[in-house]
Amino acid sequence: MTVDLHTRYLGLDLRSPIVASAAPHNGEPATARLLERAGVGAIVLPSLFEEEILAEEIAFDRALAQGTEQFAEALDYFPAVETFMGAADRYVAMLERVKTEITVPIIASLNANTAGGWISTARRIEAAGADALELNLYHVAADPRRTAAETDAADLELIAAVRAAVTIPLAVKLSPFYSALAHFAAGAVAAGADGLVLFNRFYQPDLDLESLEVVPRLELSHAWELRLPVRWIGILRPQLGSGVSLAATSGAQAGTDVVKALMVGADVVMMTSALLRHGPEHAASVESELRAWMADHEYESVGQLRGSASQATVEDPSAFERANYMQTIRSWVAP
Ligand SMILES: Cc1cc2nc3c(=O)[nH]c(=O)nc-3n(C[C@H](O)[C@H](O)[C@H](O)COP(=O)(O)O)c2cc1C
Repeated sequence: MTVDLHTRYLGLDLRSPIVASAAPHNGEPATARLLERAGVGAIVLPSLFEEEILAEEIAFDRALAQGTEQFAEALDYFPAVETFMGAADRYVAMLERVKTEITVPIIASLNANTAGGWISTARRIEAAGADALELNLYHVAADPRRTAAETDAADLELIAAVRAAVTIPLAVKLSPFYSALAHFAAGAVAAGADGLVLFNRFYQPDLDLESLEVVPRLELSHAWELRLPVRWIGILRPQLGSGVSLAATSGAQAGTDVVKALMVGADVVMMTSALLRHGPEHAASVESELRAWMADHEYESVGQLRGSASQATVEDPSAFERANYMQTIRSWVAP
């Protein structure tokens, strides 16, 4: 039985629902080529951070200011400014290079916290040929004077500002920590997001007991972490309708993980940890597992598989909502 893996994500036709999510080497042509050869449907580039763009602007202003203190005819006046290459320039150069070598859609990524002048970088990313843009909203709501409503409003304003800056499809990568996630998700779509990427993984820093310093600890994900995006995609798919793209990220390691996320209504399933652990070629094994599972269970296409379990949640939303909590804690059996 042949299985059709085509899917649509952010208006793009993808050959497969397996997507390489933002990761450090995705912008390097050698890695991107391996990912393409392994059959991924799209590649998300590592994020360019708002802080990097702002730091670059400050450095550029300094380079200009240095010039004003020199005689205009000094030989090194223009080169100091002209050779300045900041983070955004390097990002755009990476994107242009990867676009010339790779045919699968390339999704650029911006990580941001506040709306501001840096948003013009989104236009440069669009001009450099990105097929879509992923806006990663990553912050910790640690200010006790700021309400949830204010935090949400600032995020929605940021989405709207980026939406206004570009015409390419826009996905927004969310954290699971909104007080009213379903309401915020609908707001993000109303602000102009074509799709949502669920969820950002928060890396909890650790405390070094010897140096008493807070140290970053990056650990790769495990399959159980997929349950959070699966639950929320199951809840959101019926609410948002089929016109909004949904991507699952966090925890997907194998073909059966991809099946679960598609079944609750994801259009694509993204992977980083599994590809870092086993190499870009792992995407091909995941695709084989997905094909084998679909053939065994007589699903001919991703279209047929997608959302087949989310229909059940329309009839009984409690499976993903509160009633499930009671059943879960009562299901514990002592070892
Ligand atoms: C080393 C590393 C670097 C990452 N860099 C980015 C990044 O630049 N931008 C981003 O949005 N997500 C980044 N992520 C998060 C991944 O894109 C992904 O959402 C997350 O790891 C969860 O998926 P996984 O369980 O398949 O790893 C990074 C993850 C890892 C492990």
